[in-house]
Amino acid sequence: MPKERLHAVLGPHGQEHLLAFWDRLDTEQRRSLAEQIDRIDFELIRRLHADRDRPSDVHELIARAEPPPAIRLDSVTTAEQSKARRRGAMEIRAGRIGAILVAGGQGTRLEFGKPKGMFPIGPLSGKTLFQIHVEKIVAAARRYGARIPLYLMTSPATHRQTVEFFAAHERFGLPAEDLLIFCQGTMPAVDAETGRVLLEEHGRIAASPDGHGGMSAALLHGGALDDIQRRGIQHLFYFQVDNPLVDICGLEMIGHHLLADSELTTQVIAKRDPLERVGNVVQVDGRLYVIEYSDLPEEAANRRNPDGSLTIWAGSIAVHVISAGLLRRSAESADALPFHVARKAVAHLDHSGRRVEPSEPNAVKFERFIFDLMPQARNAIVMEVDRRLAFAPLKNASGAEQDTPEIVRDQLMALHRDWLRWAGAEVSDEVEVEISPLYALDAEELAEKLPPGTRITEPTYFRP
Ligand code: UTP
Repeated sequence: MPKERLHAVLGPHGQEHLLAFWDRLDTEQRRSLAEQIDRIDFELIRRLHADRDRPSDVHELIARAEPPPAIRLDSVTTAEQSKARRRGAMEIRAGRIGAILVAGGQGTRLEFGKPKGMFPIGPLSGKTLFQIHVEKIVAAARRYGARIPLYLMTSPATHRQTVEFFAAHERFGLPAEDLLIFCQGTMPAVDAETGRVLLEEHGRIAASPDGHGGMSAALLHGGALDDIQRRGIQHLFYFQVDNPLVDICGLEMIGHHLLADSELTTQVIAKRDPLERVGNVVQVDGRLYVIEYSDLPEEAANRRNPDGSLTIWAGSIAVHVISAGLLRRSAESADALPFHVARKAVAHLDHSGRRVEPSEPNAVKFERFIFDLMPQARNAIVMEVDRRLAFAPLKNASGAEQDTPEIVRDQLMALHRDWLRWAGAEVSDEVEVEISPLYALDAEELAEKLPPGTRITEPTYFRP
């Protein structure tokens, strides 16, 4: 695009500063900058920036929040669990379930320098998050004699390395036709005061992935929704890259989702204390919503039901089963998921081209969140899980107080020790153990394989 055309595009939006260094760019850099500009919806950016301080209606939600309809750990009967498991297994066998893994985040807090999925988390095996996740899918597909396609979302920050990593490891055993990697979009960071889009380099706009909620649009544009439809997939098991404990395509969750004729079922943990820093799943007017912990005042967090239990008790762990129909509805409507505004310190070039590294937030970023799908879902329900068995997110680098590699590995080993004991083995808390998903996906499968009287006294990695 010639410079004059770009001026004509940018002028009406007050964004012509993006061309300030045009004359210093080579042909390739110019082409790239023109492309970046072309992808931005400047009218949307203007609107989002203008609304950046608009009070949200979260106070209204908080005031009216009720506990969500839930499958609770202490009230679900064994018969109900078995029924759900049978229903879930039937659906997987019929090839109507797929998996969605979102791995487009920048993983800033982990300070790893590569996509988070490439982080070696297996306590003894050193397997990466990606490998552990994929092997669960491969093992489940084998167990149920079904295809379970994986739709893997990357972002420009993680795409190339992820694609290369999967190719180099032959997709960890997943058939080529069952892996679809698609890339989410980005949103530019803008100066908080002026709304001007920031430049990171002379020819590069400061942009970051548009949030895990960018998944809806990316599923559509990346061809995944068509693939889902073509295969007759009805529901998708959604999970995030950072939690190696997640029971991918867990039968009980899929079963409860189907039995409730739900369009979205989400896993929750009972909060340890009212102010625990997790998203809060609540019900308002028969619809599910997530209230972020940063929005929840202490008085509301402490509200109690007549029986004394917490009203806002359900903490989200970002594991969902979502119907393909809901995904398509949301993907096809541009405004289906709202943008959230975050104030961030963003490094950029000033008008003279000097790099500025602010220590305080100078910019706003815009992200979509997948949990905003919830209010649109018919019959949405929550399913409670035991956090010890289901939730260990890798968020922070070693040395932090929580969610570090060491803590995640310990939790993975504790889970596997539990399985071993359930399966009849003797193992003390100090012994390091790890079970490959290809050896056993759960305690029941492990019990079928372990010789009776097994005693584990030294570090042991169970693999086929
Ligand atoms: P987080 O919000 O924890 O972000 O993502 P992150 O990138 O892992 O880490 P920080 O905040 O930069 O330290 C939760 C999940 O959502 C995905 C992440 O890859 C992770 O699986 N995600 C997040 C996306 O796929 N795209 C995004 O734009 C943001």
